[in-house]
Formats: sequence, C-alpha cells, structure tokens
Amino acid sequence: MKIAISGKGGVGKTTLAACLAKYYADRKYKVIAVDADPDANLASALGIGQDEALKITPLIEMKKLIEERTGAKPGGYGAFFKLNPKVDDIPEKFGIDVGGVKLLVAGTIKAGGSGCYCPENVLLKNLFRHLVINQEDIVILDMEAGIEHLGRGTCENMNALIIVTEPGLRSVQTARAVRKMADDLGIKELYVVINKIRTDEERKFITGNLSDFAILGELPYSEKVRESDIKYFSPCDADEKFKEAVQKIAAGLSKYIKSN
Ligand SMILES: Nc1ncnc2c1ncn2[C@@H]1O[C@H](COP(=O)(O)OP(=O)(O)OP(=O)(O)O)[C@@H](O)[C@H]1O
Ligand SMILES: [Mg+2]
Repeated sequence: MKIAISGKGGVGKTTLAACLAKYYADRKYKVIAVDADPDANLASALGIGQDEALKITPLIEMKKLIEERTGAKPGGYGAFFKLNPKVDDIPEKFGIDVGGVKLLVAGTIKAGGSGCYCPENVLLKNLFRHLVINQEDIVILDMEAGIEHLGRGTCENMNALIIVTEPGLRSVQTARAVRKMADDLGIKELYVVINKIRTDEERKFITGNLSDFAILGELPYSEKVRESDIKYFSPCDADEKFKEAVQKIAAGLSKYIKSN
C-alpha cells in the first residue's frame, strides 16, 4: 500500500506522514517513509536528532549509486543509461532506521524537460514505482507543497493520496487543484485530512467547503505539536488527543489497506 501526502504549504503534511509511519511501524508493519520534499524535514518529525538529520545524504546526491545503477553519471543528459535500473535493495541498504520506520530521503527531483530523463530522476522514478513488494508493506510519501511536482512520476504509482487541509480557503483551493492532478494521474483513492482544528466553527467552515471530498478524519490544533517544531522533538507522541486522532485516521486507512 503506497500512500502519498500532499496539500498546501505548512498544513501539516510532514507531521501526518511521520505520525502515520510511526503508527504502522509500532504495529509491526514494514514501513518505508519517503521524504520527497526538497526541503526535507521528515527525519526530524520522526524524531531523528538535529545533528544526525544534517548528516543525511539525499539519494539524488549519491553519485556513486546513481552511476552504478544507471550506468551514467548524474546530470548525464543525452548519455546512454538504463531506463530500468535496479532499485529493490535501496530501501534496505540506504534507508535510515528510525524506531522501526525505514526513512528514505529522496532529494530534489529535477522538474520538466530533459530533467525528467537524467539518470538520477530515472533512478528515483523507478524506486517510487517498485517500493512495495508485499501488499502488507506500507510506503508513506511526504510530498512537496502544492501541485507542480505531482506529475513528475513521484506519485503516479501511489494507491491513495491524502490531501491535508486546515481551516482556510487557500488549503481548499490547493485540495481542488491536487484532486484535478490526481484524476489526471488515475489515482482513485483520494482522501482529505483536516488539520489544526481549534473550534466547532472552524470544523463547520472547513467541512462545509470540502463537502464533495471523502474526509478521512481530522486532527486538533495542538500547542504541543507546534512546540515540537520549535524544541525539536517528534510530534507523534507529544499530545494524547492528537495521537488518538492520528490513530482514528490510521484505522480508517487500514480498512482500505486490508481490502486492497
Ligand atoms: N495539529 C497541529 N497543531 C499545531 N501545530 C501543528 C499541527 N500540525 C502541524 N503543526 C505545525 O505546523 C507547522 C507545519 O507543519 P508541517 O511541517 O507538518 O507542514 P507541511 O505541510 O509538511 O509543511 P511544508 O509545506 O513546509 O512541507 C509545523 O510547525 C508543525 O509543528
Ligand atoms: Mg513538509
């Protein structure tokens, strides 16, 4: 089961990605969490220390690996290279273990034009395509904000797409744009998670504006979660109410995972 997490900037994509990954890892699923945001910070949300996080080399910068697998040096536009490089061992070999979650930091995937056909992009695209071997395994992809990157081969092989929103019309606009892209990519399972809800009024406002979406669940605004980003600790166990809300969302998704 491969789940991509998308939405407007700052709505809580990384927070949700980390907490879902942790939820499933705690329940002994094999979980691969992929940070597909060039501004990578899934490691810290999973609870990796600041110094350790800084030492992570994104896959796209692993020149030796790219050359070994594709037969061409990174940036080798026009060069001959394998379009189907070996990737199946990458999560095991290059994933960083964080509390049972295998974290892969992808790095900046080059956009548009010839960038799509350079060796490093081909390697990553192939990796995203072949990440799951067993149906029971779970891949969670934390995506860059907005929609520009959605068509670049990162999420077209995902089973489900979660769009994170918050009480505000801008996140609703982004949700609509993401849905359009997801339709074009043929992603059928599309869910919304509403984050940072403080009041009933906010809940009514946002659910009213998202009435034509399948709402998977909601997460409360939490001072502890906000603080986790300032004091650098994982938001996943920071607040009981928040944790329970994540559990509800994950349970909803699990039904889908089992029937898929
Ligand atoms: N439920 C919540 N309550 C309070 N603060 C939250 C909540 N969810 C997320 N935040 C805070 O909002 C900020 C953005 O969260 P996060 O990094 O998860 O969003 P994002 O969508 O991944 O952002 P980006 O678009 O930059 O990747 C962080 O400071 C995070 O701690
Ligand atoms: Mg993020």
